[in-house]
Amino acid sequence: MEKISFIGCGNMGYAIAKALSTDPNWEITLYSPNEQKTKEKALALSVKAEDDITKAIKSADYIVLAVKPQILPSLYETLRLWGKDKTFISIAAGISLATLEDALATKKVIRYMPNLAASEKASVTAITYSEELDEALKTKAYQIASAFGSAFYLPESQFKAFIGISGSAIAYVFEFLHALALGGTKAGIAYPTSLAIATDTLNSAVALEKASKANPIELMSKVCSAGGTTIDGIEALAEGKFDSTVINAVMAAVNKNILLEKAQEKK
Ligand SMILES: NC(=O)c1ccc[n+]([C@@H]2O[C@H](COP(=O)([O-])OP(=O)(O)OC[C@H]3O[C@@H](n4cnc5c(N)ncnc54)[C@H](OP(=O)(O)O)[C@@H]3O)[C@@H](O)[C@H]2O)c1
Repeated sequence: MEKISFIGCGNMGYAIAKALSTDPNWEITLYSPNEQKTKEKALALSVKAEDDITKAIKSADYIVLAVKPQILPSLYETLRLWGKDKTFISIAAGISLATLEDALATKKVIRYMPNLAASEKASVTAITYSEELDEALKTKAYQIASAFGSAFYLPESQFKAFIGISGSAIAYVFEFLHALALGGTKAGIAYPTSLAIATDTLNSAVALEKASKANPIELMSKVCSAGGTTIDGIEALAEGKFDSTVINAVMAAVNKNILLEKAQEKK
């Protein structure tokens, strides 16, 4: 049985804990300052709640740091003091490995960038760690993240790009689904049905792309018969600068992340 404690169990900590709680090999402890809320969450997942942060740290092999980035620095001393020999997994956006390793006085630090679909075991999670991390822990980092979705190792320098195409982009996908559903509504299908159809269409496109291993342009050209309906729609997307708009949205998130990281590192 392996032991994992969550320091902070809000939206993201709870989502990951929920996914891991279905695996009987994990002994999970939740800690957050609001005792009552933590107990209720622990009860819902049939895991332990701890009202003393030092006990939550001491009792686990892996400590997930799931508090807001601005809160984390206030916990460094406690984590360092009680977390000797523990492995820290930080999901805090914008706090670098170097800062964490220095603040926690250990190289046993892993960074994840997950998304909320972790609760459904459908997160796409970026993982990074220092090259000096023990090989067994590198494997473990991948195994834990894979338990709540798919996992990609990336050098830390690519985390901001990952946020642009995944962490933030999950919201762009919701926007696209909404827009597609609105199109269906304008063409005469009630919004709920239109949204259900749009969602299943997204799923079918993804299933085909994954199974065929063809790139999206090849697949798109198969849908576009000569002189047919789809090419007119593709032309309308091009007129609306669809590709540039999406690329700009990715870069807007990347650039904001650069600004936030700079502000965070100054603290
Ligand atoms: N939300 C996302 O989609 C997402 C995606 C990727 C990464 N992240 C990262 O995940 C982290 C958590 O984000 P979130 O959205 O889950 O935030 P959240 O919902 O606000 O949860 C924060 C948690 O931290 C707890 N907390 C507050 N002060 C604390 C303290 N002094 N000691 C211990 N715990 C404390 C809160 O407890 P109380 O409720 O008791 O106050 C709460 O359980 C952030 O660093 C964020 O960058 C979030």
